[in-house]
Amino acid sequence: MTAPLLLTPGPLTTSDAVRAAMTVDWGSRDPLFVAMSDEVRATVATLAGPADQVVCVPVQGSGTFAVEATIGTLLPRDGRLLVLVNGAYGHRMVQIARTVGRSVTAYEWVEDAPVDPTQVDALLAADAAITHVAVVYCETTTGILNPLREIAAVVARHGRRLLIDAMSAFGALPLTLADVPFDAVMASSNKCLEGVPGIGFVIVRREVLATCKGNAHSVALDLYDQAARFEKDGQWRFTPPTHVLAALHAAIVAHRAEGGVAGRGGRYLENRDILMAGMRALGFQTLLPDALQAPIIITFLQPASTSYEFERFYDALRRRGFAIYPGKLTVADTFRVGCIGQVFPDDIRRFLVAVREAMNELGMTDGAAVTVE
Ligand SMILES: Cc1ncc(COP(=O)(O)O)c(C=O)c1O
Repeated sequence: MTAPLLLTPGPLTTSDAVRAAMTVDWGSRDPLFVAMSDEVRATVATLAGPADQVVCVPVQGSGTFAVEATIGTLLPRDGRLLVLVNGAYGHRMVQIARTVGRSVTAYEWVEDAPVDPTQVDALLAADAAITHVAVVYCETTTGILNPLREIAAVVARHGRRLLIDAMSAFGALPLTLADVPFDAVMASSNKCLEGVPGIGFVIVRREVLATCKGNAHSVALDLYDQAARFEKDGQWRFTPPTHVLAALHAAIVAHRAEGGVAGRGGRYLENRDILMAGMRALGFQTLLPDALQAPIIITFLQPASTSYEFERFYDALRRRGFAIYPGKLTVADTFRVGCIGQVFPDDIRRFLVAVREAMNELGMTDGAAVTVE
């Protein structure tokens, strides 16, 4: 049985070169492995800022491990976090902060509205005890793009620190220290860098990390200790995911060859535009207006047709070689289609043909939703 093309937010479809890189069993102290690990850390860091100002600290595990490591290491025990929430991943940061015993305030927008920087301004003006602000760049729950530059400017103006969950955006959407003052950016191996799952990483400002000794609630998720060890001898403190790292190394070589962030983001944008136009031609409606829609994952409203049922629609597409994703909204029934990973415009065109066939199979005349407000 062949695997379907993954039109999901991750794990994603990867290239043959990335998968082939995992056929070597590296020893963790092998000089070639250490060099590969150094190169991955240096290359990933410089996507976000100059090498003398930022450092990349990877952690074993999925993206959430990097988020938990960041909140635990960067927030002092007496710090206070404001989380700007407009989806599930914002809620998750609140849960993490509470669990690791940090003072946290959540401010929430509805899932189809972006974080509003003027409200952030007011929240910071009203609470001088807030030391850090956390926000999700692209909220994968809906695929909405938050206005990161504007939020960062407000946070900087108030002299507070910004932590960015850029999990589903890093490597495809612009994010540099020069434009977006941050303390930390969190991301992972298996999203827009197109590696395989297993490494979360954090890009931290060096001068900030230098002040974080002893903050962490956890041994395994202490970014300060891990960074100190990389500094000392290039070693991961605990068994590194060697195959995953080798795959990520191959993935960043390909990322560079595609033209870096601009090249990768450009392909995803083309995927998005073809997907949205094609789905709309079949009657489907997007949750978000185009201006708020990141080129990462698109949320479609559940069709009104009584012949539609997500599981049957999913199966019909799966049999034609495509995996889509269920919705994750609390406010509306939806499904999602991703446009990241080794997915190209022609794949999206083939997908649109498969959607038409799946609709015919289910007996749907069009994809229109019940109501659009
Ligand atoms: C914005 C965002 N944050 C955090 C995560 C959590 O990552 P993981 O599921 O890899 O732990 C995801 C995963 O999709 C995400 O999209």
